[in-house]
Amino acid sequence: MIFTAYFFSATSVFITTFFSFSFYFTPHSYAVPFESQKIMITGPSQLAVESGVQTFKNGGNIVDAAVSTALVLAVTSPYFAALGGGGFALVHIDSQSEVLDFREHAPAKTHPQYYIQAASPKASRLGGKAIGVPGIPYGLWELHRKYGKLKWHKLFNSALKYSKKGFRVSGEWYKHTSKNIEKMSPASKKHLLISQAALPKPGQIQTQKALFKALKLFRKKGPKAFYEGRVAEDLVSSISAAGGEMSLEDLKNYRPKWRKPLYENFAGYKLMLMPPPSSGGLVIGAALNLTQRLQLKKTEARSLNEYHLLAEIMKQSFSKRHLLGDPAFHINPISEFTSDDSRKKFLKKISSTKAFIVPSSMPIPQESPETTHFSVMDSKGNALAMTLTLNGNYGSKVISKKYGIALNNQMDDFTTRPGQPNMFGLIQGKGNEVQAGKRPLSSMSPTLVLKNNKAVMSLGAPGGPRIINGVFQVLYRTLVQDLNMDEAIQQPRIHHQYLPNVLFYEKNKFTPETLNSLMKKGHKLKEIHGVAIVNGIRLNKKEFLEGAFDHRGEGYVSGY
Ligand code: GLY
Repeated sequence: MIFTAYFFSATSVFITTFFSFSFYFTPHSYAVPFESQKIMITGPSQLAVESGVQTFKNGGNIVDAAVSTALVLAVTSPYFAALGGGGFALVHIDSQSEVLDFREHAPAKTHPQYYIQAASPKASRLGGKAIGVPGIPYGLWELHRKYGKLKWHKLFNSALKYSKKGFRVSGEWYKHTSKNIEKMSPASKKHLLISQAALPKPGQIQTQKALFKALKLFRKKGPKAFYEGRVAEDLVSSISAAGGEMSLEDLKNYRPKWRKPLYENFAGYKLMLMPPPSSGGLVIGAALNLTQRLQLKKTEARSLNEYHLLAEIMKQSFSKRHLLGDPAFHINPISEFTSDDSRKKFLKKISSTKAFIVPSSMPIPQESPETTHFSVMDSKGNALAMTLTLNGNYGSKVISKKYGIALNNQMDDFTTRPGQPNMFGLIQGKGNEVQAGKRPLSSMSPTLVLKNNKAVMSLGAPGGPRIINGVFQVLYRTLVQDLNMDEAIQQPRIHHQYLPNVLFYEKNKFTPETLNSLMKKGHKLKEIHGVAIVNGIRLNKKEFLEGAFDHRGEGYVSGY
C-alpha cells in the first residue's frame, strides 16, 4: 500500500512538472486574435502547436516547425493525423512556392470494380480493403529533405516524449475515440486503452508505447523505417488480418509528389491554391471570382441576400467537381472552373431572387470534423498550410498490431460505386474511379495568400467538402470585408455542394426570419452543427502575425 501511494505521488509530481514545463515555455494567449512577430502556428492541439514553436525557437524554419507539429499530432490526435494517413502541404519559402502531395494511393490489387465486387457494401469505409497506401511519413521526410534546416532527428523530441511518457487526452480525443473504439478489433483497441477495458477520460494520461518504437525507427532511418522492414511488415499483416490486400511492394513503391500550385488573382492578392488531386483550389478560385463578378461586396455583410448569393455561388462552383480526378490518370477539364466562358455560364445561372434548383433525390450526407489542419507563418513572408487526414476519424478503424499506427479509409474518396454517394454525400465521376497507384479526389484545401511574393495569409480546415466552403467564406470575410482573422473565422457559415440540393446552415446562428426568407427563395434547408473548423494566420495592418482558431472545435494558437 505504502509503495503504491508513493508511486502515485511520485508520478503526479513528475506529471505536474512535466506538463507545467511544456505548457508555459513560450508566451501564448487565449485572447483572439492572437498577435506575434516572429512565428505563429495555429492548429488543433496545444502540444503540437507548442512543439512547432519551440522547434522554430531552436533555430528551425517554418518547415522544421511544421514537421515537428505534425509528428506530435500523430501522437495526440491519431483519429485524424496518425502516420497511417495522407495529406497536402502548401509551402512558400524564400520566395518559392510549391505543393507537396502526400495523399494515399490505391494498392496494386485494386481496380474499378473492386468495391462493386466486394462482399460488404462498407468495404471502402471499414476494414483492410478501405486502406490506401499511407503518405504522411514520406511526406514529412520529403518536405524536410527539400526545405528543412535543422537535422531530421531534432524534430522528434516532443513526439517521442509524449508517446513514451504520455499526454493528457482532450475532450475531442475522448469523443472520437469512444465513438469509434467499438468498431475496432481487440488488437487495434489495445493501443487506446489505459487498463484492461478503460479509455482515458479527458485530462487523464495516455501513452503510445508501440507508436514510440515506430517513431524512434523513423527518426533513425527516415521513410525506409516505415515503408520497408519491421513496420511495413506489421502494416501489411494487420491490413491482411482486417481483410485488405496491401503488399510490401505497395508500401515500398510509395512516393509523395511535388506539384505546382494553382494561382488565382483576387482582390489585389495572389491566392496559392491546392491543385488536383484536390478539388478544393479549383472550386475556391471559381467561387471567389464569382463574388467579384456579382459585386457581392456591395451586398450587406451577413444579410439574407448575401447568404442567398453565397449559396448560389457555392452551387455553381461545385457543379463540375465530379469531372475531376488524379492528374496522373485523368485529364482534368481545368478550364471548366477557370475560363472566362465557364465562369460567365455559372453567372448566368445565378439569380438574386430565386435559388437555382439542382435536380436531385439522394440521401443527406453527414460530415463530422474528420481530418485536421494547421497553419504556420513567420515574419519574413514564409508560410506553410498543411492538411492531414485519415478520411474518417480513425479511418478504417484498423490500428497496426505491433507499432500502433492507425490506418486511413481514404479509398472511400474514390468513385467506388458509380452513381452512389460516398461518405460525404459526394457523387463522383469516372475520372475518379479506382485504379492501382491512383490518388483519390480530395476536398482538402490548404491555402496561402501572397502579396508582392510574400505570404500574408495561411489557412485551411478539416472535414470533407465543407472544407472548401469554410475556407472560401473565411477568405471572403478577410480579403474583401477586412474582418480580422478571429472575426472572419467565427462568422456564421453555410454550405452547398450542388448535390444533394440542400443548403446547410449552422445551428443557432441564423434568425428564423432569415431562414424563412431563404426558404421562400427556394432553398431546401438543413441545420448542421458547423461548416468546417477553420484556422488561419494573416499579416495584419500593424505588420503583426495575427492568428485564430475556430470555436467549432478544439484549437490553439501560439508564437512569439
Ligand atoms: N478525405 C477527405 C478529403 O480528402 O476530402
